[in-house]
Amino acid sequence: MSRVEPLPDPALVVLVGPSGAGKSTWAAQHYRQQEVVSSDALRAVVGSGEFDLDASADAFALLHQVVAARSRRGLTVVVDTLGLDPDLRDRFREQARATGLPCVAVLFETNAAVCRARNSQRDRPVPASVLTQQLATFERVRTTIGEEGWDEVRTIVDESTSTTVAPVARAVAPGPTRSGSGDLGLEVVLQVSRFPWGEDPAGWLRSIALVADHHGFGGIALMDHLIQIPQVDRAWEPIPEPWVTLGLLAGLDTDLRLGTLVSPVTFRAPGIIAKTVATLDVLSGGRAFVGLGAGWWEREHLAFGLPFPPPAERLDQLEASIETIRALWGKGTKAHEGRRVTLPETTAYPRPVGQPQIVVGGSGEQRTLRIAAELADACNLPSDLPTLERKLAVLRRHCDAVGRDPDEVAVTVLDLPVIGADRDDTWRRVERHRGRTPAAAYAARHHAGEAALHHDRFLALADLGVTTVFVGLPDLDGPDDVERLAGVLTGH
Ligand code: UTP
Ligand code: MG
Repeated sequence: MSRVEPLPDPALVVLVGPSGAGKSTWAAQHYRQQEVVSSDALRAVVGSGEFDLDASADAFALLHQVVAARSRRGLTVVVDTLGLDPDLRDRFREQARATGLPCVAVLFETNAAVCRARNSQRDRPVPASVLTQQLATFERVRTTIGEEGWDEVRTIVDESTSTTVAPVARAVAPGPTRSGSGDLGLEVVLQVSRFPWGEDPAGWLRSIALVADHHGFGGIALMDHLIQIPQVDRAWEPIPEPWVTLGLLAGLDTDLRLGTLVSPVTFRAPGIIAKTVATLDVLSGGRAFVGLGAGWWEREHLAFGLPFPPPAERLDQLEASIETIRALWGKGTKAHEGRRVTLPETTAYPRPVGQPQIVVGGSGEQRTLRIAAELADACNLPSDLPTLERKLAVLRRHCDAVGRDPDEVAVTVLDLPVIGADRDDTWRRVERHRGRTPAAAYAARHHAGEAALHHDRFLALADLGVTTVFVGLPDLDGPDDVERLAGVLTGH
């Protein structure tokens, strides 16, 4: 099956085709009911039925109002009319331009005989002469619509009556050879930031980890905060100490890598981080990693009696922490005289058995990325492609400046997708979790869509050189959700 590029989404989509071409059928297959605005349906709302032509003016007035309101909110709207009137098409295009939505025309090239046959089957067929007129108009529109200024013109060919039409927006036909996570070309690590574990915290954690391992996730990364952050949940929801929690997971029979994303260096003295991670590494047979960052949330520091110095000082602390950790993990027990740190000895046992990866998180271009370029094994960046490309360029410049081979600094991203079973389910989740964020903005931030969409996004991340996606679900409740998330590994 050939791959069909998804249509832009959100978009203002205008259907164009004669009666019986299959416009309404296609719209219902690919979009949610609320996303489709149909002149026929509105005739039935304001008049006696779909064919009440006397109600056309009222129906179209409503239709324009719906198109304007949805596009103003950045929400997809599919205009299901004949689409044969050039003035109407102009008006829809202008509406899209005014609101910044891509405008797409979808042409239905259905065989004339098929349209006629379908028309004659209807309760109230369009008069044959009217249909003939529509077919002739459509022929003209087909040849000129390319000049009208649409962002995209897509053609749906109905090869007789019932063959498949192009998957749209959400669905990309899964390729025949995709299976497991190996074909993604990168590792997917489950990031856990909320812990709705009910009466059985340890059981909940175990079930999450076992399902993740079973589905081929490469590891578990825990958020490291002292109070649950407002971006995730309410302040009184549980947020466990991550290293203790990872110790529990280390005791399970899995291959999962285990670490934090990310630990603020303001929480623990660097030597203690070195000791903690080394211990986890030993207990897990070399599966530990540690995310490190400068910390950002003043409230949790104040509440726990921890100093929260200004950013520059915290970034100094980040540098010094990495230096200390590496010194204590290094061979022997000799004194350490470093750039920022002096230690009279580096006696620290047990030593890690693997080489725990140090992942620097945060994307401050001036210093954080420089620290990552200079000192980290990996740099964690945002997952949206334009931002990622920009930050990668900065990271590479820093690598050049400090004389480090960019290939030595792995690139990881944090991704927080909303994944629905279908388009309706996706938007139900968006609506449930968006809080006060406008739905279109929330959906865009979380790349709301079905598993296939995320799978393709991850392939694009791999193309950019990303080695690990830390993927967290904003609506993680239990192991079933990890199962749902596992769809991104396979695309379905
Ligand atoms: P539609 O009702 O989808 O056509 O299909 P349309 O383009 O929206 O027509 P107008 O402009 O509103 O009049 C017409 C008939 O064809 C069948 C549908 O079930 C419907 O009865 N149909 C459509 C198929 O049998 N196969 C298809 O692929 C599409
Ligand atoms: Mg229709």
